[in-house]
Amino acid sequence: MLFDEIHSALPHIKLIERQPLSSLCTLHVGGEAEIFAAPDSIADMEEIFGFVMERNCPVYILGGGSNVLFPDGLIEGVVISTQNLNSIEWRTNLTADVDAGFKLPMLMKELRERNLAGMEFAAGIPGTLGGALMGNAGAGGHGVCELLDYVVAIEADGQTRTFNHSDIEYSYRRCSLAEGKRVIVSARLTFRQATPKDKDVLESFLLRRGSQPHGLHNAGCTFKNPEGYSAGKLLDESGCKGLTVGDAIVSDVHANFILNRGHATGDDVVKLIGICAQRVYDRTGIKLEPEIKIFAPCPLVQ
Ligand code: EPU
Repeated sequence: MLFDEIHSALPHIKLIERQPLSSLCTLHVGGEAEIFAAPDSIADMEEIFGFVMERNCPVYILGGGSNVLFPDGLIEGVVISTQNLNSIEWRTNLTADVDAGFKLPMLMKELRERNLAGMEFAAGIPGTLGGALMGNAGAGGHGVCELLDYVVAIEADGQTRTFNHSDIEYSYRRCSLAEGKRVIVSARLTFRQATPKDKDVLESFLLRRGSQPHGLHNAGCTFKNPEGYSAGKLLDESGCKGLTVGDAIVSDVHANFILNRGHATGDDVVKLIGICAQRVYDRTGIKLEPEIKIFAPCPLVQ
């Protein structure tokens, strides 16, 4: 059995069998992980990731769970969380080494306290730095990958590698590091001294976020904006607002948000995503691409 195999090889790493996943994602849907681990150190992360990759068993990397969708039932394999890699070390007045599991809102707080700027566009974005880097999370034409000096990641062979800024390609909601099998464990980021104008920019990002749906469990924007279009507008014009499958509903406030009214299942959300994408395609011929990372059957999601 996989559990026994991992446990006997790596007895110092805490494993949980049949971990319910709904409490680990902001949408609050999904089944159970066959095995769940949240390593306490980069060394433990290297060991467990290398071990499961070598055995070719399914492995899913979970950050803050704010942009993911778990299917129902049992997710076979190992879900590895970065939640315990969560420290920050300032190297200079402007530069910090930040662990993958460090929460973006905490990072924003650090910047505010140190009067630093450069990440205003991330105001109000939940989740962890690792997840944000994998999807180049952002707003207003900016993404977190811009701030990178370098990223430290564990590769499929369990070895740690450093990727300099120039090694990484990124664009709107895309980072080339997500295109291989690896776990981001930390990154060095450089900021700049804040000016009064930065504070105004931050306020304007917070205002836009404030007008988005809140109160019910959701995973942020469902689809990426296709080039030259707004997914929210396309979905709205295609009559998606208020569509439901079970307890999953398309927000009346912003059509690119799917909300869990209480007891939605992962399958309800998956079905609703499909219905919305089909409506937009039938009306416009545009194929919307999910921004939410769906935990199956793709092997690596962060
Ligand atoms: N719109 C509609 N109907 C809707 C929703 C939007 O007509 O139901 C229109 C708006 O009126 C506006 C346009 O569509 O003219 C764009 O909408 P919005 O300003 O809300 O921005 P967005 O492109 O939908 C992006 C990011 C958000 C980010 C906001 C604000 C994507 C997919 N979404 O939304 O990010 O918060 O800008 O900065 O890039 C996320 O990534 O999870 C996310 C929510």
